[in-house]
Amino acid sequence: MKAESFKIADGVYWVGAIDWDRRSFHGFGIPGSTYNCYLVFGDEKVALIDNVEHGMSNQLFARIEDAFAKEGKDEVKIDVLIQNHSEMDHTFCLWETVNKFSDAEIYCSKKCEEFLQAQFHDFRGYDMNVVKTGDALDLGGKTLAFVSAPMLHWPDSMFTMYMEEGILFSNDAFGQHLALSKRYAEDYDLGFILDYSKRFYANLVVLGSMTLTRKFDELNDLGILEQVKMIAPCHGQIWKNPEPIVEAYQNWASGVCKDKITVIYDTMHHSTQKMAHAIAEGIMSEDVECVLYFMQENTPDEIVHDVLESKAIALGAPTMMNKPYPRIGSTLYWLDCLNFKGTGSFKKALVFSSKGWAGGAVKKLTAELENAGFDVCDSYEATFVPDSDVLDECFEKGKSLAKSIKEDNL
Ligand code: FEO
Repeated sequence: MKAESFKIADGVYWVGAIDWDRRSFHGFGIPGSTYNCYLVFGDEKVALIDNVEHGMSNQLFARIEDAFAKEGKDEVKIDVLIQNHSEMDHTFCLWETVNKFSDAEIYCSKKCEEFLQAQFHDFRGYDMNVVKTGDALDLGGKTLAFVSAPMLHWPDSMFTMYMEEGILFSNDAFGQHLALSKRYAEDYDLGFILDYSKRFYANLVVLGSMTLTRKFDELNDLGILEQVKMIAPCHGQIWKNPEPIVEAYQNWASGVCKDKITVIYDTMHHSTQKMAHAIAEGIMSEDVECVLYFMQENTPDEIVHDVLESKAIALGAPTMMNKPYPRIGSTLYWLDCLNFKGTGSFKKALVFSSKGWAGGAVKKLTAELENAGFDVCDSYEATFVPDSDVLDECFEKGKSLAKSIKEDNL
């Protein structure tokens, strides 16, 4: 096939694959993605940074050929394969690449080496170069420095920095799941790209928030952060101006939130739904931003970017068999997995439910949210269909929650 590379600096090309059709990344709904790889031409060696998803090697190899042609080189020869991370969306075609460029040496972290051995048993005996922070590779006029980045977002993750041009190849960090025709973030509306970056962060990176805060400090201490002129992640758009995404990551990682409440609810016979709407009215009466997610229509991965930047949530589900309506269970599970308290933000929560003859949902929802690190500061349980008095109380509960997050700022 024919596919073009894209030059991002002298002797540096994007040679990745565009996955136009992907709609789910292990349960995270996405509008496609890219698996970005980069070719760096030194005077003596050529390095390929990262690799592509299953079935995407035809794009990768076509773009590599194109980059060599643009550099005026007849022989397509890669000397160095750098794996910043070993999740399979970046390694499925690595073995095929190793076979195609059989003289190439692999550079990766110690954990990445272990993980590659466990994925591609053929790698046993393959001589890999294990690198860490402080190690560098000279390609001839171009220096690639390595920075260990464990838990951003896997234990094996690392960054590679092209020092002379200040290009940080950050693997998953700073990326988005988007399949677009142009490569730079700046080719599109900034708000649109940041929104997809936030969705990516909330679903895939948030667990590493504490590590990320420390990593920013370390990069500062090493003097690397100030040298970063461009961030080239392995998914989505390349940041020609890294400032907005670095600032956003610093905020997300350190739990900076808005005066905002995310209301999440499900319903059986519209009662809990009516309570959710009344709570939202109360929140809005305090001029606090409010977003609503009806979990018959939404999935947990769609809500978490709003939870990330909310100071509080309101979570409601009807009682069924003395427990919360089961469909809310996957939301609770996902909120627990993502460990938002790791960002240092102890989010408030209001729990609500409509029951029939016996309760139980409020107790269980409270326990699950507290276990997930939320501060359940209030709850409300209605019996059967809420009348206007009950809805007025829900309004007041919403208002009171909104007031409390504003007061926290005082
Ligand atoms: Fe894009 Fe963690 O892989």
